[in-house]
Amino acid sequence: MRIGLIGYGRMGQAIERVATARGHEIVGALHRDASTIEREAVAQQADALIDFSHADAVPEHVNLALRAGKSLVIGTTGWDALRPDIERQVRAAQGSVLYAPNFSIAVQVFLRHAVNLAAQLLQLDGWDVAIEEIHHRGKADAPSGTARALATRLQQTLSLPREAAYPVPTDNRLPANQFAVGVLRLGSEFGTHRLLLDGPYDWVEITHRAKSRDGFAYGAVRAAEWLIGRTGFFSFQEVLNEILAHKEEH
Ligand SMILES: NC(=O)c1ccc[n+]([C@@H]2O[C@H](COP(=O)([O-])OP(=O)(O)OC[C@H]3O[C@@H](n4cnc5c(N)ncnc54)[C@H](OP(=O)(O)O)[C@@H]3O)[C@@H](O)[C@H]2O)c1
Repeated sequence: MRIGLIGYGRMGQAIERVATARGHEIVGALHRDASTIEREAVAQQADALIDFSHADAVPEHVNLALRAGKSLVIGTTGWDALRPDIERQVRAAQGSVLYAPNFSIAVQVFLRHAVNLAAQLLQLDGWDVAIEEIHHRGKADAPSGTARALATRLQQTLSLPREAAYPVPTDNRLPANQFAVGVLRLGSEFGTHRLLLDGPYDWVEITHRAKSRDGFAYGAVRAAEWLIGRTGFFSFQEVLNEILAHKEEH
């Protein structure tokens, strides 16, 4: 597969490493200041584009992929408010786009288990829930897309009568109809997510901690391989189910 990278920062470089090791070719890497001509040229040469850039540029990159008729994998986070409009645009144009706020296979399994764990304990009296995420100082958005995704799943799956507090109020009182989503920015931390459950007699927590960026890159490359030839707006779930069903090494 010929891959065009959009964004050549920490993740763009990890994608290049992982994709090359899987036998793919990188046909170009677009930086923030890439001209329209450069962008169109990379899109034309690529079978798939992989975007790990900045939230503000995602609509432009979707348009680029739709114009070129190429598959686009989006790992960039922080544009959730635009997602419904972009999904509609992609479907109307019969485009080929897949987005995940977290391409780590282990994180996706963690999310499933975290929601199940919360579902069982929060049906008991006296239990409370919170989410915590830790990332490197350079991360542009907060809370992380993964923390938001976990919060949304808790609300939707459990019909929690509480909403995520972004940010947690500073007057030391968390209203009863909210649960905390804590954010820490620390050094070069690749990404830690934690679900915390507090009960009358017990404390339960489940943590995922990334050891490098390669797990995210691997998932994004697998998503691009899966996406080629498909039309629609997809999440990582379909790819994940296929990977887990085949019990592949990753
Ligand atoms: N889905 C996942 O699994 C996952 C995992 C990790 C990170 N992420 C997300 O991926 C994004 C990138 O993370 P990162 O750690 O790689 O950040 P990074 O190191 O800051 O790299 C982002 C790169 O994108 C470039 N860029 C900005 N606007 C652009 C544009 N319009 N066209 C092309 N390139 C542009 C930046 O250029 P400049 O250097 O000129 O600013 C920078 O080189 C963030 O949104 C992050 O939250 C997602």
